[in-house]
Amino acid sequence: MIVADVARVLNYDADLVEVLPAEHWRGPFPADWRDRALAALEAGRIVVFPHLRFLVEAGEMVLLDQSLAGRARKNIGFDPASRQLSNAASDQAGAAALAGMIERFSDQALGLLHDLLPSYAAHLDRGRASFRPNEIVGRAYSPRHDDKRLHVDAFPSRPVRGRRILRVFANIAADGAVRRWQVGEPFPSFAQKFMPRLKPPIPGSLWLLKLLKVTKDRRSLYDHYMLGLHDRGKLDDDYQAQAPRTDLYFKPGTTWLCFTDQVLHAALAGHSALEQTFYLPVEAMANPAASPLRVLENIAQRALA
Ligand code: SIN
Ligand code: FE
Repeated sequence: MIVADVARVLNYDADLVEVLPAEHWRGPFPADWRDRALAALEAGRIVVFPHLRFLVEAGEMVLLDQSLAGRARKNIGFDPASRQLSNAASDQAGAAALAGMIERFSDQALGLLHDLLPSYAAHLDRGRASFRPNEIVGRAYSPRHDDKRLHVDAFPSRPVRGRRILRVFANIAADGAVRRWQVGEPFPSFAQKFMPRLKPPIPGSLWLLKLLKVTKDRRSLYDHYMLGLHDRGKLDDDYQAQAPRTDLYFKPGTTWLCFTDQVLHAALAGHSALEQTFYLPVEAMANPAASPLRVLENIAQRALA
């Protein structure tokens, strides 16, 4: 099946998604795939692999049982550097199995990016991974924490200081549950709407957040404004009701990646997803002008990181 047919069958809008037919996590990948992946990501599109399945081992199937996977209804975090799990509610054997599964995904995500995006490889910083066992539908969150609302990612406690947030996701649901996303307008038009409404930080406050250990690093002006865009966008009920959006569906066995600091996204339904976060310096991009940092600097007419 040629790629255009794959996109049509899955109903992916080519303006939003680049479909690649890879079936293996490691390359070598054709130069054409590498070029298309790089161009798509930097243009704010999502690269989707409908046939790149993360294999859950027989002994791990029990981990997908939502009733066991932490009633706190939280994501289970994993730090590949320290191999520490967070929020896992299972016993010791369960925790070791969970860590093993997430670490395997983390390593495969890293291998995929190395081979698919060789110009990024030396510059990628692997951050945390997560397992998202619980069904999104019916979860109650405050609007600011509600990822069912359109948003760009920005983390209050982890300043990125202009670096890009590149995330790899995989749907591993064992019961066929599709993960449903919505994708909104391009980043520059979203930023043009909300950036003028944001106030600059109170003098000294970014330094104080670091001193009080609210943030792990000093928050830059860029982090301040990205958090502002995240919060203002989510809290604007009119925007959430009226903003243009397109539904995307990721079946089990699908892997996808995008710059979530740029792609306006919401996760509306599904369970049992894996996610690995990477950070990338803007200078490692083929087209740094497309980065949220440069877009916001253009609007603000000053350096932000
Ligand atoms: C998000 O980043 O907003 C959630 C994505 C997901 O869990 O599918
Ligand atoms: Fe998000």
